[in-house]
Amino acid sequence: MFLRKELPVRLANTMREVNLLPEKLLSQPSVKLVQKWYMQSFLELLEYENRKPEDSRNLNDFLDILIDIRNRHNDVVPTMAQGVVEYKEKFGFDPFVSSNIQYFLDRFYTNRISFRMLINQHTLLFGNDTNPLHPKHIGSIDPTCNVADVVKDAYETAKMLCEQYYLSAPGLKVEEFNAKTPETPIQAVYVPSHLFHMLFELFKNSMRATVEMHEKNKDGLPPVKAKVTLGKEDLSIKISDRGGGVPLRKIDRLFNYMYSTAPTPSLEPGARVVPLAGFGYGLPISRLYARYFQGDLKLYSMEGVGTDAVIYLKALSSESFERLPVFNKSAWRHYQTGPGADDWSNPSREPRDASKFKAKR
Ligand SMILES: Nc1ncnc2c1ncn2[C@@H]1O[C@H](COP(=O)(O)OP(=O)(O)OP(=O)(O)O)[C@@H](O)[C@H]1O
Ligand SMILES: [Mg+2]
Repeated sequence: MFLRKELPVRLANTMREVNLLPEKLLSQPSVKLVQKWYMQSFLELLEYENRKPEDSRNLNDFLDILIDIRNRHNDVVPTMAQGVVEYKEKFGFDPFVSSNIQYFLDRFYTNRISFRMLINQHTLLFGNDTNPLHPKHIGSIDPTCNVADVVKDAYETAKMLCEQYYLSAPGLKVEEFNAKTPETPIQAVYVPSHLFHMLFELFKNSMRATVEMHEKNKDGLPPVKAKVTLGKEDLSIKISDRGGGVPLRKIDRLFNYMYSTAPTPSLEPGARVVPLAGFGYGLPISRLYARYFQGDLKLYSMEGVGTDAVIYLKALSSESFERLPVFNKSAWRHYQTGPGADDWSNPSREPRDASKFKAKR
């Protein structure tokens, strides 16, 4: 009963917001395809609005429909990304459009994370696809998720990928510090697949940076370090590498969709291997997962040396509620105004020619 109202509402919110994108972006075939998927799913869900939930046939049909919808939306992220690339190639980006697209994609993908979370929860709890490997999980939530175990899992998976590319990978050192209840393993009520996603992305980035920086180093590769800590309010996971770092000027840019310093990988269905990097979606999407349950993901770098990436989660499950975008007047206003003019002086950017300056104003 909750889902048959909540799912159409979430779809409707995001569909209204899509319509605020620039007309030329909406007319790209990939964006149209994504819109078509959303519309179809919305209509299918509406069918259930007035059906009797106590009828078990309705419940079974609803379950099947949710699975169909989930499958239909599997490729939303790369398809939407494709639309943005097509638009950028044809028309280019000005700062106004690019800030709007960044704002939109953050909200659109967060909505999608939440939508899939609800569907998965339902199919796992009421469907046949319960996971016998994890009898203690409640749907996709692990009430006693051992964080260091997920760290090690994500590291091993990234390591395999890294070895396929570079034939070697840095080691891992894990350290735990439980400030709340010393000497006990750090656990959280969390969705392990979300945590895995974030850590896997961070490890891939750290490994790539480490190998590229130290490939010719006779002493081998400096290990990647993971530190898991628990306080009263925050559960933090820091992944540190010695991969040469990123200058401060560029740090914010790393969270832009499509910003990548790796060659663009092939999206062809027959592509040989999963790429280690290159879409530029790793960091921005990981940050959405962290923020979705009121956490965050931040990067601190020391150029020339290395980078620390920190995932912050809420230590208390009562504080890990969903953070959702809503379509309202202030969201609408955001699309109309865009980034304001710089209100700090910046001599290096002052135009030398005074007449140009006037024309610009
Ligand atoms: N630990 C790191 N050290 C140095 N540079 C980094 C690090 N993490 C990220 N970067 C830089 O940030 C860029 C963006 O990272 P992001 O993970 O978002 O995309 P990507 O790794 O290029 O592609 P993918 O979407 O496949 O992950 C990288 O291309 C890289 O230049
Ligand atoms: Mg990456």
